[in-house]
Amino acid sequence: MTALADRTRPAGFVSRFHPVAEHSYTLPAHYYYDPAIAAREREEIWFKSWLLAGYLADLEKPGDYITARILDQPVFVIRGRDMRLRAYYNVCMHRGHLLLEGKGNARMVTCPFHAWTYDTFGALRAAGNAENVAGFDMADFSLVPVRVEPFLHMVFVNLDLDAPSLASQAGGLADMVGGVLPNLSELKNVRRDTYELRANWKLMGDQLECYHCPVIHPQVMGGEDSYLDFSFDSQEHGIWSVDISWGSDEVIEK
Ligand code: FES
Ligand SMILES: [Fe+2]
Repeated sequence: MTALADRTRPAGFVSRFHPVAEHSYTLPAHYYYDPAIAAREREEIWFKSWLLAGYLADLEKPGDYITARILDQPVFVIRGRDMRLRAYYNVCMHRGHLLLEGKGNARMVTCPFHAWTYDTFGALRAAGNAENVAGFDMADFSLVPVRVEPFLHMVFVNLDLDAPSLASQAGGLADMVGGVLPNLSELKNVRRDTYELRANWKLMGDQLECYHCPVIHPQVMGGEDSYLDFSFDSQEHGIWSVDISWGSDEVIEK
């Protein structure tokens, strides 16, 4: 029997994918289902990118924490006694129990399994019976840090300790958002809905870029058939892009 990968990669298959965007037409189909591709994306994209963990509004006071996941890697962000934000893998250094759930405030982080206790700097401060273990050094069991960066009143984390800062990668984004949302810091997240989709994650990106807009949604593009007085523009800026509707949202009378 022919494997699916072989059937979808016929003889003479030429990838339309090129590292230089201008030479790239579309991803080969197997990028959407090949486990080897997913494994590389995990290491090269998910574990090296800045990803949203939560909102600064939940991290105002010392000890305030939020939890998040990057694929199967649990992390938490906590505001220290020194008011600095720090992030760690949400995994106990003893036997790997999850340390924190949801969001809240903790002066110390105590593992629910055997009560090893860490401070907001990630240092192990208490471990039952450790005094009877020869050579046990608490300094060997600090929590493993993760990069954290507040940006636009949100909080982003990155498992790559060498990643360039989000602010440096997202040049111009803060100014653009600040220009259209001057009261950003007063906004609060009031609701979050989570949907689990049985689809490759890239299919979501395929919906968000606006190559399809003039074809599927010509009405929002302005011009002859439009029912809104809009014109639409997509701009790309390195790691971020923006779809802008110019004009008013007045319905055009026809
Ligand atoms: S697993 Fe955390 S204290 Fe044992
Ligand atoms: Fe759409």
